[in-house]
Amino acid sequence: MAMPAAANQPTNSLEQHWMPFSANRDFKADPRLVVKSEGVYLWDHKGGQVIDGSSGLFNVAAGHGRQEIADAVYAQMQMNDYTAPFGLGHSGSFAFAEKLSRILPDPFNHVFFTNSGSESIDTALKIIMAYHRARGDAQRSRFVSRERAYHGVNIGGVSLSGMVKNRETFPVVMPNIVMLRHTWDESRRFERGQPEEGAELANDLQRFCDTYGGTTIAAVFVEPVAGSTGTLVPPKGYLERLREICDANGILLVFDEVITGFGRLGTPFASHAFNVTPDIITMAKALTNGAIPMGAVATRDKVYETVVGAAPDKAIEFFHGYTYSGHPAACAAGLATLDIYEREGLFDRAAELSDYFLDAIWSLKDIDCVFDLRGYGLMAGVEVQHDGVPGRRGTALQKQMFWDGVHVKFTGDTAIVAPPLVSERRHVDEIVEKMAKTLKTV
Ligand SMILES: Cc1ncc(COP(=O)(O)O)c(C=O)c1O
Repeated sequence: MAMPAAANQPTNSLEQHWMPFSANRDFKADPRLVVKSEGVYLWDHKGGQVIDGSSGLFNVAAGHGRQEIADAVYAQMQMNDYTAPFGLGHSGSFAFAEKLSRILPDPFNHVFFTNSGSESIDTALKIIMAYHRARGDAQRSRFVSRERAYHGVNIGGVSLSGMVKNRETFPVVMPNIVMLRHTWDESRRFERGQPEEGAELANDLQRFCDTYGGTTIAAVFVEPVAGSTGTLVPPKGYLERLREICDANGILLVFDEVITGFGRLGTPFASHAFNVTPDIITMAKALTNGAIPMGAVATRDKVYETVVGAAPDKAIEFFHGYTYSGHPAACAAGLATLDIYEREGLFDRAAELSDYFLDAIWSLKDIDCVFDLRGYGLMAGVEVQHDGVPGRRGTALQKQMFWDGVHVKFTGDTAIVAPPLVSERRHVDEIVEKMAKTLKTV
């Protein structure tokens, strides 16, 4: 295979690139470079083969190197590389939004395109403000989020973040945000699937209504399964209760499905898995199989119709958008991605593989350093006992696992295992065996 221009460029210096969410000095002293990726595997610069246990960052659901996506993007770039999206259009974004609305829950038939999960969160915040304003309800200025939430890195997402590391460096955030308690409880360690107990934690929202007034609350943001803090599965009845309180108080419910969207839980979206329909769904990652950056915000019809319907004739209804909203290449990648998901039945495949996957993960239970296991669908958190400094052991393990042949994303001391949906049982075995090998060295 001829090497594409951007791949394998000789590099004499790692210094100039300031890497994101990385220990720059440590990485540059002992780099881990990926030179090739295909299917469920990566190859490092020393020639090692590494299985991808986290689908990249939970985005490469259909596996790496999908020719159909590359071809679609290439053809699009030759035909029309860019269309200015403000007041001008190209057919790809409409086709993609329409195709997406077919797999979204009912009644979600409107999609706003962004370039990332973080931008989707900011966009959702603005849609919510615009919605309440359009209804003459602009006093709703309070947002509710949750401890241990991750909603990306823009100021909106950091404001909603329940992760201390993402907040303590950035103290200037949006005001008027209150936090639900998170749903993890030590007494439920090693419980698989949805915990039986804990739905009452949703009543925190009722307490906020009682304390601040339900009419001051604009929206509640939750990840249906909290991903980045290590797969916190919602207790049975928890999301239902949130929905109930939102309905009783005119509060919008947002599911941040940046990780849970597109089959990760064995259904198109978490809303299907848990049978709870929010008002807004944010997404990104597997939207384009990770091949091209893209995010999106889908809304119930009533949200779109309220915002768009409130503006005078011929006026711009929503003062928001990105230079790359609905980029033609991203739409082409997204359309090709949805074709693959559909043709290969990948959401059902994830559901079928889930039990096998979770059995394999639970085989790690008796390893000394394993502190907790959590999981749902094709997503699991493997939490190790910290070594006195939270996160230090996880960081070391992530590095060691890579050299032992498995890529797994760690947040703090928790590995988040999320194999590509195209994985076979033997791939699950390989991921878990390699993880076990490394974990046993602790
Ligand atoms: C639930 C959730 N929301 C938002 C984001 C931010 O997405 P991005 O990194 O594409 O900005 C992430 C990223 O992991 C996420 O997991």
